[in-house]
Amino acid sequence: MNRPAMEGLRLNAPAHVRHTRLIGWVAEIDALPEAAEVYWCDGSAAEYDRLCDQLVAAGTMKRLNPELRPNSYLALSDPSDVARVEDRTFICSPRREDAGPTNNWMAPAEMRAILQTGLPDGTPALFRGAMRGRTLYVVPFSMGPLGSHISHLGVELTDSPYVAISMRVMTRMGRPVLDLLGTDGDFVPCVHSVGAPLQPGQKDVPWPCNATKYIVHYPETREIWSYGSGYGGNALLGKKCFALRIASTMGRDQGWFAEHMLILGVTNPQGKKFHVAAAFPSACGKTNFSMMVPPAGYQGWKVTTIGDDIAWIKPGKDGRLHAINPEAGYFGVAPGTNVHTNPNCMESLKRDVVFTNVALTDDGDVWWEGMTETPPAHLIDWRGLDWTPEIAKATGAKAAHPNSRFTVAATNNPVLDPLWDSPEGYPIDAFIFGGRRSTTVPLVTVARNWTEGVYMAATMGSETTAAMAGGNGAVRRDPFAMLPFCGYNMAEHFQHWLDMGAKLQASGAKLPAIACVNWFRKGADGKFVWPGFGENMRVLEWLIGRVEGQAGGEDNVFGISPRYEDLRWDGLPFTREQFASVIGIDRDAWRQELALHAELFKQLEHRLPRELPATMARIEERLK
Ligand code: GTP
Ligand code: SPV
Ligand code: MN
Repeated sequence: MNRPAMEGLRLNAPAHVRHTRLIGWVAEIDALPEAAEVYWCDGSAAEYDRLCDQLVAAGTMKRLNPELRPNSYLALSDPSDVARVEDRTFICSPRREDAGPTNNWMAPAEMRAILQTGLPDGTPALFRGAMRGRTLYVVPFSMGPLGSHISHLGVELTDSPYVAISMRVMTRMGRPVLDLLGTDGDFVPCVHSVGAPLQPGQKDVPWPCNATKYIVHYPETREIWSYGSGYGGNALLGKKCFALRIASTMGRDQGWFAEHMLILGVTNPQGKKFHVAAAFPSACGKTNFSMMVPPAGYQGWKVTTIGDDIAWIKPGKDGRLHAINPEAGYFGVAPGTNVHTNPNCMESLKRDVVFTNVALTDDGDVWWEGMTETPPAHLIDWRGLDWTPEIAKATGAKAAHPNSRFTVAATNNPVLDPLWDSPEGYPIDAFIFGGRRSTTVPLVTVARNWTEGVYMAATMGSETTAAMAGGNGAVRRDPFAMLPFCGYNMAEHFQHWLDMGAKLQASGAKLPAIACVNWFRKGADGKFVWPGFGENMRVLEWLIGRVEGQAGGEDNVFGISPRYEDLRWDGLPFTREQFASVIGIDRDAWRQELALHAELFKQLEHRLPRELPATMARIEERLK
């Protein structure tokens, strides 16, 4: 047999794969991790079911009680592999300054030696033999509607069947993507291994992973390599790695934005529809806001979900910014989700869900902190241990990991926007940026102009959460909610936003409003003052009122905030005093806050747009 034919046999490529470069790339990668076999995913329901059965047999997943939670599973990860690992995430641009001071950087050649080729001292490459005893899954996927001019394709090679099934839920995955790729279509190559090769006869563990982890991006060649983790954004490479880190560099080069934003549609009682994109850091409320149920008193208002985590935003023919959701599913935070805070989410989770790291009830269903007021009397916790409210009281053990999540198709969402799959995208009326801040930052402030809005986004601070390994509630700057996700120099990201604004403005288009929100201010009792969730509708209504030139407000030290009488309070007992405590500016706190802005600007001074320190100087002036 000649070599290409042998390769063909080994690669097992289906006849409909006609893309020579793709086959060549799979063959080239395949030689490195020495997987037992290669399998090309077709994305069918039958394949999904088969892989799920296999994951159940391997002990990675447990089938939930089909009467309570049809077609759903619970996966428990290794206790060490529960969140994104920011300190192991690298942007390997040729020059350090292109990654910028907020990213971990390594020279591409140095990183390739570690991952692919081996070190000069003879240390073998991490990927060498990394998939021994496992199957290499070829996972073709589209970020964005199939065939949309805004979409981009990728192919992930992974040794994790959990990743393969998750990619089917989170992206458009399988045969149609191969068809779209045709003979020479572009794709972003993504290589993933859990880094746990099996010796012949060695028994596998339920959640293979490796203590050594690398989440690596080569923006120049638009490649992604991920090693050692099977969890979430570390492993589902279409999500943060592609749709944010690589896509943000594509957007900078091509004149668009890839942002960590939900997208929602909001229709008023007159039937006028607006579209809003909102950036909140990880575990700070995107999924909840995107599925919000307007409260009592808001009859005739309707919120529909377009996306819950990522937006790709491009200027349309009309000169406005249009957004699409590149994803097809939700990988959302379980704890805190319940029928009161997010009924649409609970409805979405009734069937066809993969839960990861939540607790198992005695009747084969799931539970997490905050799902019900009274916890069940007995559970198996996310580590597989017995859990009772008494044990929890004594040891503080959580039944579900704080970053436990659900994976579910967008089509399960009862308020999914009917046009969510449209290739054209939605014209954006307003951007919102919001951190999790127990003090200092007001409930809502709308910028007076684009530059002031970019300043708000750039200087945003937020308390870190369990979505990142090591997240402990400490406040850090999280510009644009993109600190862990910007694939290039953050200072250039600020410039990109200013440049795009100037360009759109020059074309005569109306720019979206930009607002800054904070749902998380706490009172002296340590409790959130603002009721949040559906009540956030009141803030959204006010913002839309501003866009329409109708809502009142007053100048704040930065931007414009509503007075008590500018918000509608029907159905919500919320006093002037309470409102004052979530909207007020504490001048001393703001002087300290500005010192943190200055620190960020110092860190990013190399390419920092001068408009930002100039805006800061004006705020300082007003604070005097
Ligand atoms: P990622 O998926 O990590 O990007 O998170 P996210 O931004 O989508 O956050 P999500 O909506 O999942 O919310 C995270 C946590 O914050 C959950 O426990 C929610 O219950 C809680 N949360 C969301 N919105 C609000 C709010 O308006 N007020 C309060 N107090 N908590 C909220
Ligand atoms: C986030 O951390 O912002 C997430 C979860 O959306 S993950 O996919 O793990 O990045
Ligand atoms: Mn997110």
